[in-house]
Amino acid sequence: MIDLDGKVALVTGASRGIGRAIAAQLAQLGADIAINYLENAEAAEATAQLVAGSGRGYALCRADVTNRDEVKGMVEEVLKELGRLDILVNNAGIISDQFLAFMKPEQWDQVIATSLTGAFNCAQAAVRPMMKQRWGRIVNIASAAGLMGDVRRTNYAAAKGGLIAFSKALAREVVGQGIMVNAVAPGVIETDLISDMPDKQRAQMCQLIPAGRFGKPEEVAPLVAFLCSEHAAYITGQVFSVDGGLRM
Ligand code: NAI
Repeated sequence: MIDLDGKVALVTGASRGIGRAIAAQLAQLGADIAINYLENAEAAEATAQLVAGSGRGYALCRADVTNRDEVKGMVEEVLKELGRLDILVNNAGIISDQFLAFMKPEQWDQVIATSLTGAFNCAQAAVRPMMKQRWGRIVNIASAAGLMGDVRRTNYAAAKGGLIAFSKALAREVVGQGIMVNAVAPGVIETDLISDMPDKQRAQMCQLIPAGRFGKPEEVAPLVAFLCSEHAAYITGQVFSVDGGLRM
C-alpha cells in the first residue's frame, strides 16, 4: 500500500486537469497538499474540496511558476502553512503550437518559460528543505512529445525534452540526500489542454495509440503517487510513459 501520511506535496498547475487528479490522488493516500494555481481561484478551490474530502489539509498558493520571486514566496508560504515540504510535482505547462517557420519568438519563450524554467524555479526553491530533512521526491510531468517530437511543437518538445534531461541531471545531484527525481511522460490525455483538437486529428491520433483511445488524468496520477512514495526509494533519473502504448 502506498502511504503518504505525514507528507506535504506541492503540485503546480493543480487547479484542473492532470494536476488536479494528482493532487486528489496524493491526498487520498494521506498527503497534505499545496495547490498551486495561476489565476483561476475558483477552480483551485474545487481541487481543495477534493483534498478536504479525503480529510487532508491544504494550502491554496497563487503563483506564476515562471516568476522566480513568486515561486520563492510560494515555497515559504507552504513551509509556514503546512509545516514542511516533502514532494514537488512540476505539472504546470502550456502549449502554443505553430510550425517552426511561423512560430513567434514569444511562443517559444512562453512554452520554455513555463515547462522548463518553471520546473527549475520550483525545484530550486523546494530542494533546500528536502536536503535539510534528507528526504524528498520530485516528479516532473514531461510528455511523449519530449521523447518523440511532435509537429508544430518544436517549443513544447524542446521544453519537455529539456525537462527530462533536467530530471536526470538533478537526480544525480541529490540522490545522496535521499531525494529521488523522476519524469512522467503522458501521451494524449483528455484535458482542457487538448480540448481544441479537431475531430479529424483526434481520430488520427487514436489510430496511432495501441490502446485506441486517449487517457484520463486519473490514469496518470497513480504512477506519480508511486514515485512520490517510499516504494520509489531506489528509483531515480527515470522517465516513465503513461500513453496507452503510443511509444513502445
Ligand atoms: P491543463 O491546461 O488542464 O493544466 C495545466 C495547468 O498548468 C493549468 O492549471 C494552468 O493554469 C497551469 N499553468 C500554466 N501556466 C502556469 C504558470 N505560469 N504558473 C502556474 N501554473 C500554470 O493541462 P493538462 O493536460 O492537465 O497538463 C498538465 C501537464 O501535463 C502539462 O505540463 C502538460 O504539458 C502535460 N501533458 C499533458 C498532456 C495532455 O495530453 N493533456 C500530454 C502530455 C503532457
